[in-house]
Formats: sequence, C-alpha cells, structure tokens
Amino acid sequence: MKVGLIGLGVMGYRIGANLVKAGLLKVVYNRTKEKAEKFNREFNVPYVTTSQDVVKTSDVIITMLSDDSAVTSTILSILNEVKGKIIIDMSTISPTTSIEMSNKVKENGGVMFDAPVIGTSVLLEKRKAVILVGGPEDKFSEIRSILDAISENVVYIGENGMGLYAKLVNNLLLGVYVSALGEAYNFGIRAGLKKEQVAKVLIELSSARSPTSELKVPKMMNEDYTTQFATKHMRKDLEIIEREAQKLKVITPLTVHALQYYKMAEALGFSELDFSSVVEIFKKFSPS
Ligand SMILES: NC(=O)c1ccc[n+]([C@@H]2O[C@H](COP(=O)([O-])OP(=O)(O)OC[C@H]3O[C@@H](n4cnc5c(N)ncnc54)[C@H](OP(=O)(O)O)[C@@H]3O)[C@@H](O)[C@H]2O)c1
Repeated sequence: MKVGLIGLGVMGYRIGANLVKAGLLKVVYNRTKEKAEKFNREFNVPYVTTSQDVVKTSDVIITMLSDDSAVTSTILSILNEVKGKIIIDMSTISPTTSIEMSNKVKENGGVMFDAPVIGTSVLLEKRKAVILVGGPEDKFSEIRSILDAISENVVYIGENGMGLYAKLVNNLLLGVYVSALGEAYNFGIRAGLKKEQVAKVLIELSSARSPTSELKVPKMMNEDYTTQFATKHMRKDLEIIEREAQKLKVITPLTVHALQYYKMAEALGFSELDFSSVVEIFKKFSPS
C-alpha cells in the first residue's frame, strides 16, 4: 500500500518519520512548503504542492492537521479523488465534523477513519503514543499495519467519531488536571515552599502524581514552555468538548473553568507555547 501524508506539523513530522522507518511513506504535502522541503532533505521522501496530488499517488492518505477548519477544507478539496482510497485523519477535531466528513468521503466512494493520538510528540517518536481508531470495523485490518508502524498502542474503539470521543475523554481530564497542577504549584510557592519541594510533592509524593505531573511540573518549575502541546490546541479541544457536551446535555463545570484559564494564558501571549504555561495565570492574577 502506498501511504501519503498531509500535514507536517509537530505531530505529522514524527508520524512521517515513523512511516519512513517502516518503508511505507511515498509522498508528503504541507501547506507551508518549507516544512515539506525539510522533511524531503531529512528523509528523501518526495513532496507535492497540493493535497490532491497526495491522494492521486497514494492508496492510504493520513492527515494530521490543526483543527476542524483545516480538516474540513482539506477533505472537501480532495473529494473528487477519494474513490477507492482510505483516509485516516489523526487530527483532534470535533467528532460531529469528522462524521460529516466521513459521510462525504463515503458518498464519493472512499473510506475514512478518525485516529486521534494520545501522547506528545516525544511519545510518538518512541512509538509509545496511543492511537484511538473510529471507523468501519470491516476495513480496519487494511490499515492496522500502517498504524502499527506509527505506534505500538493502537486501539480500535468503534464506528466513525468514536475514536475522537475517546480522545476527548482524555483531553477533558488532561486540560482540567494541568490547570489544577498550575494552581497547586502556585499555591505551594506562595506559601513559602521551595520550587524543588513543590515539584517533589507533585511528581513523587502526591497521591495524585502521574506521567503528566512528571512531564509538566519541571516545565512549570523552569518556566520552560517550549511546545510539546500548544495552549491554543488545548483551548481548541476544550471548546470542542463544550460544544459536544451541549449536544449530549451533560454538565461539564470543570471543563468550563479550565477553558477560561487556557484562554487567559493565550491572552498573556502563551498561545503557541506549551499548555503548562497555564501556571503563569495563577502567578499573574494572585495579588501580592
Ligand atoms: N502536539 C501534541 O502533543 C499533540 C498531541 C495529540 C494530539 N495533537 C493534535 O494533533 C493535531 C496536530 O497537532 P500539531 O501539534 O502537530 O499541530 P501543528 O504543529 O500546529 O501543525 C498543524 C498542521 O496543520 C497544518 N494546517 C493548519 N491549518 C491548515 C489549513 N487551513 N490547511 C492546510 N493545512 C493546515 C499546518 O500547516 P502549516 O505548516 O502550513 O502551518 C501543520 O502542518 C491537532 O489537532 C492537535 O490537537 C497534538
């Protein structure tokens, strides 16, 4: 199977690298050409200048894009080419949008899966991220080996949209949890504890410690907000959860609060930086 990749951002670039290692990737496209040129220099995989050209030369097309609007515009632009092709969208977008797009792909003779990822680019590099798959179960075996090349943790969840709902369950918890880590960190510092002591509690001693506290508390401590997962993406995911929650008629009071914190972090200039920067709002808005 010839695999093509659309989107060479933080995550797409690593997905591409894993596919190259497995000898599967035949062509790439990225809106900003420089990233495709860089990928070509590093891995010697040809790049094309339109999404349509990726689809024409591939059997399976992976998309890893920012948000609903990027995925929608890309899928709509390739509909004439999707007959007999399989699209795997790994972006985190609204399940509702994804289901709409998969129906359009189906009407045009193709198949689409949602396959969002739990885990940062660091985990993806080690093939340790989790891929949650939604789409037709009878076609899953055709893409299994491709997803296995990207990560060793591939889980089939259910029909279209279900991979994304599972991913949103994770990001609801993650968004609330990291904002709580920021609040707890700032509370400890203002009480007079040393940075190292607060970090030790959150990373080693706390009954609520986790892989996420291990990853994010050092960033808070060192004010190192180099991007693993951008604040704007966490804000986007919590907004998706809010829209879905309204449709499902479930209450999500913690998500509502966390969403405001990430918006505040964006207003402070941390939109493109790591979402652990949310700790800065607790520092900034606590009166001295
Ligand atoms: N980073 C993480 O740790 C992580 C973890 C799990 C899931 N995710 C999810 O994975 C997705 C990608 O994340 P990322 O961190 O890789 O984001 P990113 O670095 O911002 O990359 C976004 C990609 O989307 C492309 N793009 C954006 N708008 C577009 C449009 N209108 N048309 C065509 N291409 C467009 C960008 O192209 P340009 O290069 O031209 O801007 C780039 O290739 C997001 O949905 C995110 O929520 C990320």
